[in-house]
Amino acid sequence: MASDDGVILTNDDAAQCKRFAVEKKYWEDRYISLMTPRSSAKHAPEISRGYYSRVTAMRLLLHKFLKLTGNNCQVVNLGAGSDTNYWLLKDLNLIPKSFIELDFQSVTARKVSQIKRHDVLLQTIASEEDDIRLSKSEIHGTNYHLVNADLSVLSQVEKKLHESGIDKSLPTIFLAECVLVYIDSSKSTELLKWIAHQFPTALFVNYEQVNMADRFGDIMIENLKSRDCFLAGVDACKTLETQRHRFLDVGWEGADAMDMLQVYKCLPQADVQRIEKLEFMDEKELLEQLLSHYCLVWAWKDPNNLGLADLDVT
Ligand SMILES: C[S@@+](CC[C@H](N)C(=O)[O-])C[C@H]1O[C@@H](n2cnc3c(N)ncnc32)[C@H](O)[C@@H]1O
Repeated sequence: MASDDGVILTNDDAAQCKRFAVEKKYWEDRYISLMTPRSSAKHAPEISRGYYSRVTAMRLLLHKFLKLTGNNCQVVNLGAGSDTNYWLLKDLNLIPKSFIELDFQSVTARKVSQIKRHDVLLQTIASEEDDIRLSKSEIHGTNYHLVNADLSVLSQVEKKLHESGIDKSLPTIFLAECVLVYIDSSKSTELLKWIAHQFPTALFVNYEQVNMADRFGDIMIENLKSRDCFLAGVDACKTLETQRHRFLDVGWEGADAMDMLQVYKCLPQADVQRIEKLEFMDEKELLEQLLSHYCLVWAWKDPNNLGLADLDVT
């Protein structure tokens, strides 16, 4: 297996777990089944609840950002994989000026072919009158761009964002949903620093592992290693403080971090109660252990006081 292949496969895993949870009605997403085939694997309720909290928390912050900026903003989804937020936002009429997705070429190529195969995906991108530029692994629509780049090579990221017409003066939200942990920390630091210096108004939302310096963390690292998937950025995932400081140390104005167990307790509780009735779950401790090894970190730069420092996941 080439060195990045194990990492690339994590997208199939994530997409199939999401599809499975959506079919169980944890949340709504009419597009995920168009992006990934159904797998025969069944997932334990704690896995689906973990994905529920991850997807719900990321979406909450994304929607709040769009509302705060009145959609006069950009979304950059780093390591986007099979993410469907662009189409979901269109359904809600929450349309940013530009939505840019980056991932390895083999992942974006697969996404391009899924988009081409399903009219409902393609029409959304092409609905504005302008031409849409499609290649084997990239798409440039009016406000949707899917491009390939290795996120650990800053010059590639810069080039692809430029080709997508990024406007650094617009408020921009960067999403990294379970992505940075796969990137060597010195490289992700370079990326976070570059963003902080280039984008005057920005929000970065990072979901990934935390509290990894324990037995649970060791087992996760070993399991993934046996599938040729290396957590090259795991040293930033030691604690919530290491997670906050990776932003504060490179020019971000402020940063908050919560483990997913805390997040789960803050999410809109009526919906949490609804999903807890979907499947019987025997082992509450397993869920708690899982949630306490993932976190949500959000960092901001907000010179015009849009209110980015006051964002939360309630
Ligand atoms: C666990 S998947 C998550 C996908 C998506 N963000 C989600 O949450 O559904 C990790 C993604 O990050 C991408 N990724 C990891 N390292 C990358 C790198 N150096 N450059 C580009 N993409 C990368 C992988 O290809 C994969 O699509």
